[in-house]
Amino acid sequence: MTTQLITGIGELTTHDPDGPTGPGPFALVIDGDRVSWTGLAAHAPACDTSVDVDGRAVLPGWVDSHTHLVFAGDRREEFAQRAAGRPYTAAGIRTTVTATRAASDADLAARLRRHVAEAVGQGTTCLETKTGYGLSVADEARAARIAAEEVEEVTFLGAHLTPADTTADEYLELVCGPMLDAVADDVRWIDVFCEQGAFDADAAARVLAAGDARGLGGRVHGNQLGPGPGVRVAVEAGAASVDHATHLTDADVDALAGSSTVATLLPACDLVTGQPAPPARRLADAGATVALASNANPGSCYTTSMALCVSLAVLRSGLSVDEAVRAATLGGARALRRDDVGHLRVGARADLHVLDAPTVVDLAQRPGVPLTAAVWRTGRRVRP
Ligand code: NIG
Repeated sequence: MTTQLITGIGELTTHDPDGPTGPGPFALVIDGDRVSWTGLAAHAPACDTSVDVDGRAVLPGWVDSHTHLVFAGDRREEFAQRAAGRPYTAAGIRTTVTATRAASDADLAARLRRHVAEAVGQGTTCLETKTGYGLSVADEARAARIAAEEVEEVTFLGAHLTPADTTADEYLELVCGPMLDAVADDVRWIDVFCEQGAFDADAAARVLAAGDARGLGGRVHGNQLGPGPGVRVAVEAGAASVDHATHLTDADVDALAGSSTVATLLPACDLVTGQPAPPARRLADAGATVALASNANPGSCYTTSMALCVSLAVLRSGLSVDEAVRAATLGGARALRRDDVGHLRVGARADLHVLDAPTVVDLAQRPGVPLTAAVWRTGRRVRP
């Protein structure tokens, strides 16, 4: 297998407690698709090829554990209305459902590929995406199939909203029965939007139990637009993650801290939709595991920028830069229950993000500035 030496690293973030420290420069060796060595550049072994990153910072690729990228159409009009003062409501999801149902497979796949490429170009090397803009058996199955062809982590979100042409009970039966059957081979996760106006606690628990019976891990959209039972339902069901988690009571924070459910915060979404900044500091201080994700979708948050999420988590939610970077890499991996990504310990998947900066501090200090200099994914240089 070919070995690659990445040398001249100014700051190396591995998330390895025994990883190299002190003044660099550092180096890292990739053997095939894995990290095989990290240390001081002066001690690096000889390799088949070598790249000098000239004092730049290297960190694990972002693990974006929450996106909704199987969609068609756009929500520019809704965005313009919100910019003029109208509040965000989840009703806009229906606009995207109509457009997505009308789109061809080729159009949906091309849009998904374009958005994934956009994310990779900004350092995202592991990405989750969801169904949820189909909301019929055929349309959800199609979305799951298209997602599975492009993305390594796929989530079934049939329980996003109840379509207008059916009752809540009938739709829940469909989601937990024929719709789940139709997507199960293409997805690893099941998700439910547990929020006032979407699915209540009982319905959410039922969706998660139906997924569990089919071997799918659980995820919950909860506490996005106001306080609610989402966190409790997620923790009780042993879900891998509760996402949004913006409006939390002390009991919610304690429940997360005492559980294996990750609090996946979506700070760009909260910014765009006029919600308070997510309570990252409170969660971290309580001992909960925190992840940061983009929530890229056409309505509530149309950005694939994980760097923006890191910046917002520092500037508005009180995390240190190191904590925010950790949440956007290792935290995302934990939210997806993955051990192979989100870090650069020996044996990790060789997913590297090289910054056009000497340290990760620039990610927070320079919001909106594109700082990705190079990206390796599974040992292959994919950018530039
Ligand atoms: O995570 N909360 C529900 N789902 C998406 C909203 C998507 C939309 O508005 O289209 C979210 O924000």
